[in-house]
Amino acid sequence: MTNRKSVYVTRAIPVETIEELRAHFDVEVNNDDRALSRAELQERLRGRDAAITLLTDTVDGEVLDAAGPQLRIVANYAVGFNNFDVAAATRRGVVLTNTPGVLDDATATHTMTLLLATARRIAEADTFVRQGCWQGWAPMTFVGLDVDRRTLGIAGLGRIGRNVAKKAHAFDMNIIYSDVRPDRAFEAAFGARHVDKDTLLREADFLTLHVPLLPETHHYIGAAELRAMKTTAVLINASRGPVVDEVALVEALRSGEIWGAGLDVFEDEPKLAPGLAELRNVVIVPHIASATPATRIAMGRIAAGNIIKVLNGRAPETCVNPDVLRKTA
Ligand SMILES: NC(=O)c1ccc[n+]([C@@H]2O[C@H](COP(=O)([O-])OP(=O)(O)OC[C@H]3O[C@@H](n4cnc5c(N)ncnc54)[C@H](O)[C@@H]3O)[C@@H](O)[C@H]2O)c1
Repeated sequence: MTNRKSVYVTRAIPVETIEELRAHFDVEVNNDDRALSRAELQERLRGRDAAITLLTDTVDGEVLDAAGPQLRIVANYAVGFNNFDVAAATRRGVVLTNTPGVLDDATATHTMTLLLATARRIAEADTFVRQGCWQGWAPMTFVGLDVDRRTLGIAGLGRIGRNVAKKAHAFDMNIIYSDVRPDRAFEAAFGARHVDKDTLLREADFLTLHVPLLPETHHYIGAAELRAMKTTAVLINASRGPVVDEVALVEALRSGEIWGAGLDVFEDEPKLAPGLAELRNVVIVPHIASATPATRIAMGRIAAGNIIKVLNGRAPETCVNPDVLRKTA
């Protein structure tokens, strides 16, 4: 028998994180390389004091009740936390945390990778060569889009949106952005312009999405928004899939309403909207924006650090429901 507190980790994450937790607590990890079902999640969390969860784990009132009243903290291994029912956790006194900041560079670099790969048709050209179709250099083959000095529209100028702007600055891109909170210092530093959503859609050559998934940002880009964009425009999404109406996007890509898209995230992962995978003018990758070793270790360090703090009666570093701290103080 042990008096050590019990922590559950819903999927294998870097070993450094697990070791850090094991120095303090009893730790059990789901080592099956798949997301847990809802029933499994409820069953595995029963009696735990803390959990590390992923964006594929829906943590709502029912799941929290199944875990039991001793549960103190759920630490998401992600910056986005749309898988949490924040109000339900706050009502039950459960601390929720995320991993902001440490994945900005990786996610912004990945965003630029998608933007460049889409503009220069890299995935399509790679397939062309591998399939033995290449007959030699030709002046009109795989002509893509210019990126340098084009207009980059950023929806959601938070940590990641700002970091994308920094990287796009190296391409002399003209930056416009839309956010519920304009940032005048950023505008001065980057020569950027805060615009309303209509202007963002109308003027962007490349539109990149970095808003969190909220009720207000669900289908932030739908059929009407795609119609408002330039026919030469590219849409990049490395935020959350449901920010874009994927069925409408397939139609817009098919009909030439926009030129192309680069997607890291999808509405119903791992499924794709019908027809998306058949389109040549879209670059599709499997939600890998933060997938670098240093980033994944840093995300684990924050999650483990938050659990160690909370289970020792201290405040976590990155709480998404700070009301709960006041309530339990
Ligand atoms: N693809 C991935 O693997 C991956 C990796 C990291 C983050 N993300 C996603 O990126 C999102 C952004 O991360 P972040 O750390 O930059 O978050 P953040 O909170 O720093 O930035 C979000 C910005 O969006 C703005 N915003 C909110 N609602 C808005 C609206 N309706 N219209 C315009 N702007 C609005 C906020 O004011 C804020 O400036 C996360 O919520 C997450 O879902 C995805």
